[in-house]
Order: sequence, then C-alpha cells, then structure tokens
Amino acid sequence: MISPNARIIRLDQRLSAVAQLFEKGCVGADIGTDHGMLPAYLLQHDICRYMYVSDISEIALSKAKKLIKSLGLQDRASFVHANGFSGIPSSVECVSICGLGGETIANIIKNTPETKPKLIMSAHTKLPYLRRNINDIGYSISREIVARAAGRYYVIIEALNGSQILSDKELELGFNMHFNCKEDKERYFNWRLNIEKKKRLKNNNTLEWIKEELNYEASKG
Ligand SMILES: C[S@@+](CC[C@H](N)C(=O)[O-])C[C@H]1O[C@@H](n2cnc3c(N)ncnc32)[C@H](O)[C@@H]1O
Repeated sequence: MISPNARIIRLDQRLSAVAQLFEKGCVGADIGTDHGMLPAYLLQHDICRYMYVSDISEIALSKAKKLIKSLGLQDRASFVHANGFSGIPSSVECVSICGLGGETIANIIKNTPETKPKLIMSAHTKLPYLRRNINDIGYSISREIVARAAGRYYVIIEALNGSQILSDKELELGFNMHFNCKEDKERYFNWRLNIEKKKRLKNNNTLEWIKEELNYEASKG
C-alpha cells in the first residue's frame, strides 16, 4: 500500500515498458539500478513483493537506497553493492538489467542463477551481440518491446529459460517485436533505414531486411 504522504513514483515510457514485464507478486532484482526509480515503482505499486536493488557503484546504490527509504519501502528491499549477479540469491524470479551496453549485459547474464529467472534487458549498444549471447546461455527471447523516451528508441528484451536459435535477420532486427501501433513500427524501421543508408555499405543485409519489414507493413494496408 502507498503511504499517504509518499511521493508517487512515475516512470518514463522506457522504464514503464520494463516494469510491465515483471510478474505480479514476484521477487525481483534490478542490476545496475542507479537512481532506483524502477525498484521504487515496482515496490510502491506492489508489482514485486521484494526486490534486490544492486549496483557496482556505491554512489549509485546510495541514491537508490535514499529514494526507497524516503518512500518507506526499505523493509521489502535488500541493497547489494556488487558486480552483476554477485549477491543476488537464486530465489529471484524476475531480473532487470537496463541502461548498460550490450557487451556488459552479455557478461552479466553469463552468471544467471541455475533457477533461470526471467530476464528483462535494455541495452543501448550491440543488440545483435546481446541476442546471440542470450541464446548461448540457454535462454529464449519471448518478445521485444520498442519504447520511445527522451527523443530516442529503446528496445526491451524479455527472455525466458529455453532453447532458441535466432536467424541472422532476427539477431539483427529483433524477435517478436511489439509496438504501440503500426505507425510506431513504421517510424522505428524508417529511423533504422536512415542509419543503415548513411553507412553506404555495398552489401548491407540489414538494409534489405529493414526494407522487407517496411514493405510487409505497407502491404497489410
Ligand atoms: C546508465 S545507469 C542505468 C540505470 C537504470 N538501470 C536505468 O535503466 O535507467 C547504469 C548503471 O549500471 C551500473 N553498472 C555498470 N556495470 C555494472 C555491473 N557490472 N554490475 C552492476 N551494475 C553495473 C552503473 O554503476 C550505473 O549505475
């Protein structure tokens, strides 16, 4: 329950999309939490019953601790000053790792507990590399959500225990992608098309795959 005088935590579209992928009532963890807005929201809105709030930086973790304490939610949180999954117990059910580079996230998930919690990831670089690594550790991508916040696009990947081998096109463009509406999908792929065009590569498969997606969308009317 939200205490009467507590500030109500609101998230931008990116972190809202991440929050929606947590299972209701789960034990969660947020690795690389920084400001702690996500765990604060998940606890305040009773989406997670307990959260491990973790960061490699002591300064970042202290910001999260301060916020969660100010909301009176500290009894349902543990604060972990550590690298990646260190200090996160295997009882955790859903784990977010967001706002880091694709290589860093790929390194972190190599140490996912054997209990195989749901992973929710948002990388700002090297998405194809991250997708390949998700499959390599015995996880399967179930869906990807494209969100727009602060004038740019973010891809949020949900992955579950299971085997999967994505095609080169899926590694590059994404798998089972969800958008708010058809227009958002077109805007996203047109934005990617322009990036690929600027590369001026001779044989650019990604460019062709993006065109395929846009033509497919147009053919649906
Ligand atoms: C840009 S912030 C992202 C904050 C928040 N997750 C978000 O998406 O808005 C990245 C945070 O990840 C932390 N970080 C970087 N590498 C890490 C690692 N290996 N393990 C845990 N935290 C890490 C940094 O200290 C920083 O606080």
